[in-house]
Amino acid sequence: MSILANDRFIKALSREDVDRTPIWIMRQAGRYLPEYRATRKQAGDFLALCKNKELCCEVALQPLERFELDAAILFSDILTIPDAMGLGLYFEAGEGPKFKKTINNLSDVESLPEIDVHKDLSYVLDAVSLIRYELNNRVPLIGFSGSPWTLAAYMIEGQGSKTFSKAKAMLYQDPTLLHMLLEKITACVINYLVAQVKSGAQVLQIFDSWGGLLSHDSYSEFSLKYLKNIVDKLKLLISEDVPVIVYTKGGGQWLSKIASINCDCIGIDWTTNIGLAREEVGNSVSIQGNLDPSVLLADRQTIRREVKKILMAYGPNNGHIFNLGHGITPDVDPERVKELIHAVHEFSFKSHLRSC
Ligand code: CP3
Repeated sequence: MSILANDRFIKALSREDVDRTPIWIMRQAGRYLPEYRATRKQAGDFLALCKNKELCCEVALQPLERFELDAAILFSDILTIPDAMGLGLYFEAGEGPKFKKTINNLSDVESLPEIDVHKDLSYVLDAVSLIRYELNNRVPLIGFSGSPWTLAAYMIEGQGSKTFSKAKAMLYQDPTLLHMLLEKITACVINYLVAQVKSGAQVLQIFDSWGGLLSHDSYSEFSLKYLKNIVDKLKLLISEDVPVIVYTKGGGQWLSKIASINCDCIGIDWTTNIGLAREEVGNSVSIQGNLDPSVLLADRQTIRREVKKILMAYGPNNGHIFNLGHGITPDVDPERVKELIHAVHEFSFKSHLRSC
């Protein structure tokens, strides 16, 4: 028996029957919500918000107050790890993340400290505990980390980029050095995710947001290999059953490879047909996705039509978690999100009835 009042998300992650398709939204706590913007203002800036557990908890719960979502996600960022390693994360108004220091050579990699997640990232773990407590088992709490490749890409580049060409140059020019960096990050990601579970996270998601920039062979060698190592270690080190979701943006052509690393669920972006994805992986994993976030900029009828298409494509099979194919953008009207959620409830309820 689950202690959760709403365990649809957990059930869908193990491909059990559900009354309707569960839904949560990547970046559900974010700038499209006026109450988020108010709390961020109160904190001063985004990083100060991440480092204040009470305010983190407040923003993590905000989307659940407004919408009938089936999961909560820790409010933090994937770049907390490189920050804890001493790279100096900062955000300039209106711009993406930046680092004061970058990784360019062997001595940079060698001098990266081995961090103690309980000390250096205690503010994240404290936020996890508080959110879990305040959720009071309404819905499950998702903890998360960036993938080693995605984190390495930011650490080498020093900021976001469309191509991450410095990171890709290192991949081809000095693969051994990149592997050394990836090893160090992987060790930290494992400790970090285990600590999040000990603090109360009930599901884990690994964001491989830049995996899709890699060539076919490079994806296996520089991203998937490390994702596999993480999933293997998590399954070994965590005694409870904590499902792991692997989300590789642009990873549509590698679904069976991703399924083979023993994760519980694959997150897909909107460039893949979810019905074909399901055919490819069968019942071996669940699938999360995959509405194009831009659909939320359209009118109600369009949102309903696109939701229906995804639910029809997935079919009456178990193991679907509805989500966007990437994070919600700040220009979305929260009313559209309400319409999205209603459409998922309405159409998936009907399709689940049909399958009974
Ligand atoms: O999903 C959630 O509600 C939880 C919170 C969350 C944030 N970042 C908060 C955030 C999560 C899961 C992330 C993950 C994250 N962060 C990823 C992986 C997912 C993805 O989008 O591919 C990446 C690549 C980052 C790095 C990052 N952090 C970027 C590129 C940016 C700027 C982009 C932007 O939207 O401006 C951030 C900042 C950030 N992280 C914001 C939020 C709510 C916006 C900061 C603000 O309030 O100004």
